[in-house]
Amino acid sequence: MSKLQNLIDNNSVWAERIAKEDPDFFTKLAEQQNPEYLWIGCSDSRVSADAIVDLMPGEIFVHRNIANLVVHTDLNCLSVIQYAVDVLKVKHIIVCGHYGCGGIKATLDNDRHGLIDNWLCHVHDVIRKYKNYFDILTDDRKRFEKLCELNIIEQVANICQTTIVGDAWSKGQDLYVHGWVYSLEDGIIHDLDVTIGEGDSHQEILQIATEKILSESN
Ligand code: CO
Repeated sequence: MSKLQNLIDNNSVWAERIAKEDPDFFTKLAEQQNPEYLWIGCSDSRVSADAIVDLMPGEIFVHRNIANLVVHTDLNCLSVIQYAVDVLKVKHIIVCGHYGCGGIKATLDNDRHGLIDNWLCHVHDVIRKYKNYFDILTDDRKRFEKLCELNIIEQVANICQTTIVGDAWSKGQDLYVHGWVYSLEDGIIHDLDVTIGEGDSHQEILQIATEKILSESN
C-alpha cells in the first residue's frame, strides 16, 4: 500500500469519533494550545507519550530522541524546552526513559550502528561516571536496568542546569522537573523520585535518587 491509505483511513475515523464526542474539540485546539506538560522521551515506537499517560492532543508538548537525552548543545531540544517554559508556561517537564531501551542496550554492548553511535556517546558518559559501579555489577539485566535509570537522572540534572530552567526558577515560575521510567512489560511508569522545583536543592535530590538506584541492585 504505497499511499498509506490505511493511516489516512484511521485518521478520518478518529477525527469523526473525536468530533462526535466533543463538537468543539478541533475548533478550540485550532485557536491555541495550553499544555501543562513537556515530555522528553525516547523515540521508541512503543513509548508513545500521549498514549501511555492517556492524554488528548493539546495536553502535552513533546520532544523525543533516541535514549531521551538532553544534551547541552542540542539546539533542537533546547528550543523545545525554551518554547515550552517561556512561551507555553508548562508546569512540568517530564523526562521519561524506558526499560528495554535499544539505545541504552547498544551503548552497553558497544554495538556499532553508524552515526547514532556518536549520539550515544552521551550514554557512554553516564557509564563512565558510574564506572566503579558498573565494573562490579555483573548481572546483565541489572546493568541494563540501572543504566536506563541513571541515564534518566542524568538528563534531569542536565535540564536543571539549563539557563532556561534556571532563569524560570529565578523569576519564581511554577515549574517542576521529573524523572520517570516506563516498563514495556506491563505498561507501568515508575517515578524515580527526582522531582525538582524552584528552591529545591537539586544536588541533594539528585544524589538521594542516585544512591537509591545504586543501592537497589545489591
Ligand atoms: Co529507547
